[in-house]
Amino acid sequence: MSYIEVRHNYKKYKTGDTEVLANNDVSFDVNKGELAIILGASGAGKSTILNILGGMDTNTSGDVIIDGKNIAKYNRRQLTTYRRNDIGFVFQFYNLIQNLTTKENVELASEIVDDALDPIKTLEDVGLKKRINNFPAELSGGEQQRVAIARAVAKNPKILLCDEPTGALDYETGKQVLQIIEDMSRKHGATVIIVTHNSSIAPMADRVIHFHDGKVTKIEQNAMPEPVSSIKW
Ligand SMILES: Nc1ncnc2c1ncn2[C@@H]1O[C@H](COP(=O)(O)OP(=O)(O)O)[C@@H](O)[C@H]1O
Ligand SMILES: [Mg+2]
Repeated sequence: MSYIEVRHNYKKYKTGDTEVLANNDVSFDVNKGELAIILGASGAGKSTILNILGGMDTNTSGDVIIDGKNIAKYNRRQLTTYRRNDIGFVFQFYNLIQNLTTKENVELASEIVDDALDPIKTLEDVGLKKRINNFPAELSGGEQQRVAIARAVAKNPKILLCDEPTGALDYETGKQVLQIIEDMSRKHGATVIIVTHNSSIAPMADRVIHFHDGKVTKIEQNAMPEPVSSIKW
């Protein structure tokens, strides 16, 4: 049994008379400690599955088994607890709280769980020791994304989910952010799923899950993932 098992996942969105099948019989596995990439064009259904995995959205049908528990059967309260304790989420546009400092943004997350990591140590790990008392508006995009990663990681989550984490960043900064995410997997043993439309970064993953039009079209396993530092795109 895999750590993450998605089985026949369907998600139907209804807006007025229009129905969209954003996930159309999606199945895949991710093992504990793996770095997986969900790859596909815009509209393929990637964010949909990531939000379901993160307990931020619910599916229409199918099973989503995390560490032996089927979160697709969870009620709202169970999902809140799951989201709080087990999930770290990194968004494309950082989603930091603007009137809190870097340190306070991370503390806000670490304070809601029992086994949190030290916020300052976590900020040191992403190279932001000197920026702990700055506000988001005083930081570059890459620095803000590193705060967002520290915030997600400080909760010591079972799973780190990243939705287009470099989508708003330039090449070099994006690469630095991917390096930090890679370190979280390779050095700290986190289970990581990155959603991206950029196929060039696929070689960094242990597993690449290809999405097209709401379906999984291919799953590749990489016995020898390439360090992001040696990937160019
Ligand atoms: N909340 C929503 N309401 C209605 N349609 C949605 C919603 N979220 C996503 N969709 C639709 O579902 C499809 C898949 O979206 P999404 O998962 O965001 O794709 P991706 O992240 O791969 O770009 C798209 O057609 C999108 O318009
Ligand atoms: Mg998306």
